Amino acid sequence: MKKYNRVVLKLSGEALMGDKAYGIDPQKLQDYVANIKEAVDSGIQLAIVIGGGNIFRGMQANDTGIERAQADYMGMLATVMNGIALQSALVKAGVDSRLTSAIKMEQICEPFIRSKAIRHLEKGRVVIFSAGTGNPFFTTDTAGSLRAIEIGADVIIKGTRVDGIYTADPEKDSSAKKYETISFEEVYKNGLNVMDMTAFTLCNENKLPIIVFDMNKKGNLLKVIQGQSVGTLVNI
Ligand code: GTP
Repeated sequence: MKKYNRVVLKLSGEALMGDKAYGIDPQKLQDYVANIKEAVDSGIQLAIVIGGGNIFRGMQANDTGIERAQADYMGMLATVMNGIALQSALVKAGVDSRLTSAIKMEQICEPFIRSKAIRHLEKGRVVIFSAGTGNPFFTTDTAGSLRAIEIGADVIIKGTRVDGIYTADPEKDSSAKKYETISFEEVYKNGLNVMDMTAFTLCNENKLPIIVFDMNKKGNLLKVIQGQSVGTLVNI
């Protein structure tokens, strides 16, 4: 029983950090792989866009003297490192998968070719899109939206630490209420932070629904894919 056929999962690099201050927490990686395996075994076509903030964030560079565009390339390389780790862990768990990069590095992974990525998905392989969009000044959220639209995904699901979109930051305001569903219009109007505006507008203009959910809760990924009421759905 699945509601969606083809899904893009956006995972932040920080999510892989777990409680560590930097890098990849092996337990977290295993937990994610277990959740991904469960979702893929349900018959879903799953692509993953991974961030790199656990290793390097382009935005950090302001203080370091590194030019912003160069720092963004460093961030893209960080996403490839996470992609390698995730794909290795998936292979180890018996999940057929392919790693692609928006920036060619043939010795390490496949270049992103839209039709090839779709073919992999049709064959039941998880496809990991790394190196963001391949361009500086864009985020991995934007890469997620772009790839989801390109490959004709039904939805982009954003796995975060919080279980949805709230009227205010739930970590700061205890009276904050969670939305079950919300329109793109309301998100703009209320100035809510779902994704950066470039990514969010791309979804809105292409009528791509977004689900924000807590990826750290075991079994949640499968529930989202089955269309159960988990997290917050942003729709037209
Ligand atoms: P099919 O065409 O459906 O058979 O897909 P496939 O991925 O099994 O075949 P392909 O021959 O394209 O790839 C075989 C393996 O090589 C897979 O693990 C790919 O991820 C990998 N691969 C393909 N192209 C590249 C590349 O340009 N660089 C690297 N490093 N690996 C690649």
